[in-house]
Amino acid sequence: MNFYDSERMTDLLKPHGYQLDDNEDDADLIVLNTCHIREKAVEKTYSELGRIRVKINTRKEKTGKRSIVAVAGCVAQAQGKEIIKRSPWVDIVVGPQSYQNLPELIAKVDPVNKNKNINIDFPTVPKFDQLNANIEERGPSAFLTIQEGCDKFCTFCVVPYTRGAEYSRPLKSIIDEAKQLIDVGVKEITLLGQNVNAWCSKGLDNRNWGLGKLIDELAKINDLKFIRYTTSHPLDMDIELIKSHRDNKKLMPYLHLPVQSGSDNVLKLMNRKHSAKEYLKIIEKVRNYNPKIAISGDFIVGFPGESEKDHLLTISLIKQVNYAQAYSFKYSKRPGTPGSVFLNQVNEDTKNLRLHEVQELLRSQQLSFNKNTINSTMKVLVLKKGKKKYQYIGRSPYNQSVYFSSKNENLIGSFIDLSITDAFQNSLTGNILSDF
Ligand code: 5AD
Ligand code: SF4
Repeated sequence: MNFYDSERMTDLLKPHGYQLDDNEDDADLIVLNTCHIREKAVEKTYSELGRIRVKINTRKEKTGKRSIVAVAGCVAQAQGKEIIKRSPWVDIVVGPQSYQNLPELIAKVDPVNKNKNINIDFPTVPKFDQLNANIEERGPSAFLTIQEGCDKFCTFCVVPYTRGAEYSRPLKSIIDEAKQLIDVGVKEITLLGQNVNAWCSKGLDNRNWGLGKLIDELAKINDLKFIRYTTSHPLDMDIELIKSHRDNKKLMPYLHLPVQSGSDNVLKLMNRKHSAKEYLKIIEKVRNYNPKIAISGDFIVGFPGESEKDHLLTISLIKQVNYAQAYSFKYSKRPGTPGSVFLNQVNEDTKNLRLHEVQELLRSQQLSFNKNTINSTMKVLVLKKGKKKYQYIGRSPYNQSVYFSSKNENLIGSFIDLSITDAFQNSLTGNILSDF
């Protein structure tokens, strides 16, 4: 979602004379867009700010030009004034729900008086209504935020405190943005939300629509070929969405559905609001509707109170699901979350061992999922050139990176039929079947 927000900030600032530069050394404006969900996010932000400070001081000495520095994103939201206290040379602190105000905040920066502009409100007018409609360039694949925030309050997670309450963007605003993306050459859209399948809004028939119906509506846009969504919560996996995985050919056969743990004790402590059995039932149902679907997930090992038996239940759940791909993390405390003050924190050595076991198993499942695609044919969307001569990189329907070669110079953004020749841990290789 931060990638999406950064793109929107870039769109927003273009009419004000700014353009993206990949070199900070001579930038008039540096926006540090932060994410709070990873470990030590606050420390990382301050150390990155220290590095930026050196850059802007050097620029000032060399050219006399002063750079404006803004800190955006969820760490900005959580830290607020503290950022200015610890880094007084920062000009702007702006939260993820108020970055639509960046142009005004920048205009207010006064180099002489060095007034500070902090905006970490959760405004009543949704930011999407205020973001301008200026989308100029994207690659063949783009993100589109349709839902933000979370009301679920898992005890390990900082999201409900930084992104705020669950909010679904209205249908029309999503369709308008999707059409604009298609107009600039996008072929694949990934719908984003912290709880993307909790999306719910009034549909064209005035009834409440869920994500399945939204995807079916978006699929009517001719030049939009591949649709994806992430990240989902098991509680919001309704039958309409599951059916779309069977009936809607533009919806890719990939589902990222985090479970976090295979133990009901731990799931309860995490406040996940579902049991391991309920999760497995959902997976079974999804597979009944689309047997080929690739399942992905997230796991946390070493949550406070997790016993060896709980850990083994996670291993057993992973074996039952057989993931195509998954992310796994050691539990670490996020300031302000209930989990951070739970007793029975698990020691670091045990966490390391458990993470290793979980990751080894997930790695072997991913490799066999990839190997199973050898000799099959698939349509991939060509995303970019590879490092080697004539090499291209595309994305498979199952979200795998696929490497192939062609002397044709203009394949980016095309769909190519490939025969898969080999498979590795994180990628596949293929040969072109179609006429290119
Ligand atoms: N410790 C470890 N992992 C976490 N995640 C979120 N909060 C924590 C935490 N405190 C992981 C979860 C989530 C993913 C985005 O990040 O697995 O699904
Ligand atoms: Fe965080 Fe997801 Fe739980 Fe919401 S549902 S609190 S975003 S892990």
